[in-house]
Amino acid sequence: VIDPEAPSRLALGEVEAPRPQRSEALVRVKAISLNRGEVRRAGSAEAGATIGWDIAGVVEAPAEDGSGPALGTRVVGMLASGAWAERIALPTNALAPLPDAVTDAQAACLPVAGVTALRALEHGGLLSGKRVLITGASGGVGQFALQIANAAGALTVGSVRQQRSEACAREMGAHEVVVGDDLEAARQHGPFDLVVESVGGDSLAQALTMLAPAATCVALGASASGQSTINVSAFYLTGGATLYGFILFYEHARNPIGRDLGRLVALVAAGTLRVPVALEASWERVGQVAQQLTDRAFTGKAVLYVD
Ligand SMILES: NC(=O)c1ccc[n+]([C@@H]2O[C@H](COP(=O)([O-])OP(=O)(O)OC[C@H]3O[C@@H](n4cnc5c(N)ncnc54)[C@H](OP(=O)(O)O)[C@@H]3O)[C@@H](O)[C@H]2O)c1
Repeated sequence: VIDPEAPSRLALGEVEAPRPQRSEALVRVKAISLNRGEVRRAGSAEAGATIGWDIAGVVEAPAEDGSGPALGTRVVGMLASGAWAERIALPTNALAPLPDAVTDAQAACLPVAGVTALRALEHGGLLSGKRVLITGASGGVGQFALQIANAAGALTVGSVRQQRSEACAREMGAHEVVVGDDLEAARQHGPFDLVVESVGGDSLAQALTMLAPAATCVALGASASGQSTINVSAFYLTGGATLYGFILFYEHARNPIGRDLGRLVALVAAGTLRVPVALEASWERVGQVAQQLTDRAFTGKAVLYVD
C-alpha cells in the first residue's frame, strides 16, 4: 500500500480480500516485478491505495465462467492496478499458463515490459532486414525489444545513457550501440524503418529526424522527459512517417494481452528469449528496491517474492 512515510512511499499493509468477477481467477501471487511507470505512480498515489501490474502465481480458484486455467495452474498475468498483493482477482484474458521450464521470477518480468516490447515492434511489420532503433535499450522494455527484433532478423541499434549499460545492450544482440543523452550518433546507422522510443525529451525529437519514408516511431515512454520540441518540417518531409502513441492498457482493452503473454512464455521456455532478472528480494524490501530502480542502480528487471 501507499504509505507517505515509507521508503519510496511503499509499505506492506492490510487491504480487503479480492472478490473475483465471473471472468476472473483468484490467484495466489508468488512473485512480482517492478516497472518504472508504477514506481513513478507510487510517488503521487493517495495513501492506502494499492498499485502494481505484473505477477506470477498459482490459481486458487478458477474463473466461474469456465474461462482460463484450472485450479493449481501456475500462471503469469497483469492487472491494471493493485497486483502487488498476496491474492488478486485476475481477468482470464490477461493471463497465461506457465510450463515448468519458466520460473516465477522470469514470468513476473514478462507482462508489461515484454508485451510492450512485442507490440511496439509489431508496428514495424515484418522486420527482416529492416533498421530498428531502440532507445532505452538497457531497460526492461529495451532488452526484450532488442532480442525480439533480432530474432525477427532486424538490424538493431540501441541507445543507452550510461557507459556501463553498453555491454548489456550488446549482450541482448544490438548490432550497434550509442551511449549518452545525445542520440545524434545513431544517425549514421539510419534512416530507421521503426523506432521504439521510451526516453522522450530530446531523444524523441532526434529520433523523429532519423526516420525512413513510411517509417513509424512508437513513443511509449518519457524516462528522461515528457516534453519534446520537434522539428516538424523534418518529420513531414520524410514522407509518410508516423508517430504512434503507445500505452499498454489501451492496447490491452482493444486486444487482450493473454495470447501475447503465452507467446513470450513459449519463447522463454524454448531458450529463445532471455529474461534479464537483475535483482531478487523479498517484497518486504519493496521501498528500497523501488528507489534503486528509480536511481538506475541495476540494469534489468527487479523481482520481489511475495513471501
Ligand atoms: N507506454 C507503455 O505502455 C509503457 C510500458 C512499459 C514501459 N513504459 C515506459 O517506458 C520507459 C522504459 O521502461 P523500462 O521499464 O524499460 O525502464 P527502465 O528499465 O528503467 O529503463 C530505462 C532505460 O532508459 C534509459 N534512460 C535514458 N535516459 C534516462 C533517464 N533520464 N532516466 C532513466 N533512464 C534513462 C536507461 O539507460 P541506462 O541503463 O544507461 O540508465 C535505460 O536503458 C519508462 O519510461 C516506462 O515508464 C511505458
